[in-house]
Amino acid sequence: MRNFTIPKTSPGHLFCFGLGFTASRLGLRLLKSGWRISGTTRSFENIDKWSSIGFQTYLFDGTAPIVSEKQNLFSDVTHIVASIPPTDAGELPLLFHQKELITAAKLRWVAYLSTPAVYGDRGGALVSEDDFPKPGSRRGHRRLAAENLWLQALKNSRASIQIMRLSGIYGPGRNVIDQVLDGKARIIEKEGQVFNRIHVDDIGTILMASMDRPNTGRVYNVADQEACPSGDVVRYACRLVDVEPPNPILFEDAELSGMARSFYSECKRLVTDRLNNELGVELRYPTYREGLDAILKKK
Ligand SMILES: NC(=O)c1ccc[n+]([C@@H]2O[C@H](COP(=O)([O-])OP(=O)(O)OC[C@H]3O[C@@H](n4cnc5c(N)ncnc54)[C@H](OP(=O)(O)O)[C@@H]3O)[C@@H](O)[C@H]2O)c1
Repeated sequence: MRNFTIPKTSPGHLFCFGLGFTASRLGLRLLKSGWRISGTTRSFENIDKWSSIGFQTYLFDGTAPIVSEKQNLFSDVTHIVASIPPTDAGELPLLFHQKELITAAKLRWVAYLSTPAVYGDRGGALVSEDDFPKPGSRRGHRRLAAENLWLQALKNSRASIQIMRLSGIYGPGRNVIDQVLDGKARIIEKEGQVFNRIHVDDIGTILMASMDRPNTGRVYNVADQEACPSGDVVRYACRLVDVEPPNPILFEDAELSGMARSFYSECKRLVTDRLNNELGVELRYPTYREGLDAILKKK
């Protein structure tokens, strides 16, 4: 079993549609190994932040192409991570750059970052990538449509396209320990509700493993090995930092965003055998406990 830190493939050029939490952490790891990293953000502040560490950063808010086609943005791009969520306008990278992506001469690997919302509610059952998607929310329908657009768009290109269905992402700078310390953690109780999580750096490792083992059209559930109620995670974080856990709030009484409500209305446990069997990845943070312990250690 490999527990590697960089892909075996020689350093390439990774372009990230959306230099968000996951893509930027992956970019940082690859940058240190000699890769070129470029990508997009919506804010000038982030352009400054990412440029200062060595990413070539472009402004892209989905209303116009990143640069004109003539500028040949993707001419030496070898790898792409697509992490911009779908919008009402559609799948933004493809809306503006599909033609260039199909013809990009050096492009060999693309990952579309999706979500398990495409499976819909499974009443807490195990769900593998072989289970047919049955989205129950608008969010899930949009994601499934976006996955299919990427698969279709790159079907006849030289690049391999893989779909990564990521469970709840956490890591340094975005985690329940910080919420507890900020007094913002909540325990929402809903009978039988569980979900998986995934540490952002395990996602990075999985993406790098996939770069070494491209498998076009393949779908991967990217999740930890313990689906559990969110209350378990909050209580564990509270114990770590010695803070009294907040009083639980019943789901029916909780004030939740539309996104959170749709999230809590579905329940499933993700099967992740492909990570190990096909990509050879052993998670560094198999449950939230290892993940939160490591985050606390670095504080
Ligand atoms: N967070 C989770 O738990 C979770 C779980 C499963 C799947 N996902 C999905 O997996 C992907 C990666 O997640 P993440 O948490 O790493 O993402 P993230 O930190 O939210 O980053 C998303 C990136 O997309 C850009 N973006 C968002 N909306 C945009 C728009 N309308 N036009 C142009 N750019 C836009 C953001 O720009 P800025 O740099 O300007 O912010 C950011 O760079 C996302 O698609 C996310 O929805 C997330």
